[in-house]
Amino acid sequence: MLNIIGLGYIGLPTALIFAARGIEVVGTDYNETLISKLKKGELTFEEKGLAELFNEAQQKGIEFTTDYLKTNMYIITVPTPYDKVTKKIDPAYLIAAVNSILEVCENDSIIIIESTVSPGTIDKFIRPIISEFINQTNQTIHLVHAPERIIPGDMVHELANNSRTIGADSYEVGEKVAQLYQNITSGEIVITDIKTAEMTKVVENTYRAINIAFANELAKIADYDDMDVYEIIRISNMHPRVNILSPGPGVGGHCIPVDPWFLVGDYPLLTPLIKEALDINESMPAFVLKKVSQIMKEKNLNDFTKVGLYGLTYKANVDDVRESPTLQILELQEKFLAHPLKTYDPWVKEQVAVNQYFDFAEFLNGVELVVIMVKHDHIKESLEHLKGKIIFDTQNTIPASDDYILYKL
Ligand SMILES: NC(=O)c1ccc[n+]([C@@H]2O[C@H](COP(=O)([O-])OP(=O)(O)OC[C@H]3O[C@@H](n4cnc5c(N)ncnc54)[C@H](O)[C@@H]3O)[C@@H](O)[C@H]2O)c1
Repeated sequence: MLNIIGLGYIGLPTALIFAARGIEVVGTDYNETLISKLKKGELTFEEKGLAELFNEAQQKGIEFTTDYLKTNMYIITVPTPYDKVTKKIDPAYLIAAVNSILEVCENDSIIIIESTVSPGTIDKFIRPIISEFINQTNQTIHLVHAPERIIPGDMVHELANNSRTIGADSYEVGEKVAQLYQNITSGEIVITDIKTAEMTKVVENTYRAINIAFANELAKIADYDDMDVYEIIRISNMHPRVNILSPGPGVGGHCIPVDPWFLVGDYPLLTPLIKEALDINESMPAFVLKKVSQIMKEKNLNDFTKVGLYGLTYKANVDDVRESPTLQILELQEKFLAHPLKTYDPWVKEQVAVNQYFDFAEFLNGVELVVIMVKHDHIKESLEHLKGKIIFDTQNTIPASDDYILYKL
């Protein structure tokens, strides 16, 4: 039986897919509200294909509980934030989860850590706990790191198809865990050591952060000297070995703006490029705000109540608002005691911002400048509502039209 600890954005779909593929699964989370929702058959967030997967998992008998199960196979998917000051990983959730597992687990258990961790975290913070436990009990416990790569918005498909990295102390344990993951993915499964697995996950997200930063820097150059960054990127990408990403209003979510900081925190003298890239990405919400004020001046708009931010999530067609550029803009405004701009997001049903609207028409009412922060399909399908408005499209989402005045990043 498999016990999955932490049923958030990663843990829940993981638990569901294992159960749907016929593995006996119990999902554990210490959040009682979350567990009672899941027990009632209610999903805790929206994601393409998740409801269907939930049905399949329920039919196969998945269980949810706040208790840790006595078994011999665990997957941990708890948060791994970083300390905003030191930039180092905060392993507190992980340590707490491991300690709780050790109170109940069987001899010869495998503890698989899926949470993203900085290289060396398992050796530094988890292995000592396990070693002490082994000394005291004479039991055997195996540690494995199996980082997760799935992208919100396409999680179910990626869970079933992405290749996986399994970091283990021995090939035998790695192979056993690889066999477990073969139940859910058709992707290649690579077995390596734990520290390499830790590093590859952080490196993957750092690669993305640096490439996004490059696109963002190009957007700033193009803006300064009146060039079209999208046209420049489109043409440059025709080169067979060039693939520049798109600029944007900032980087949100739990991974790309967070994980690269682990490297900066642990190797400050060796990471000037990574630090610069992260700083560039973090400067984008302020850059958007500056452009908004420029557009307002240009269009003689001197009333902030006539400006609305469309989109509160950190990416398109999901309901996850963590670290989102729109929330960063609102935070910036708050710092300067400015009245928060109107916001609206078709995916966000809970109040996450002060001046948030839940009806698109009400949001648009009185708004002359709409700032598109998120590329939701909804806005592409709502172009007729934008007639007569000034649009600042920070995501290159909508086409030029005589119906509205369009500014881009
Ligand atoms: N969200 C993503 O897109 C993504 C992608 C790849 C990897 N990751 C990594 O996966 C990990 C989990 O991220 P997430 O987005 O699912 O986080 P999350 O905050 O959505 O979910 C974590 C869950 O763990 C529960 N929890 C915390 N400590 C616990 C404990 N000791 N016992 C039981 N439950 C506990 C919380 O209540 C919460 O429900 C992180 O390390 C993250 O970096 C996330």
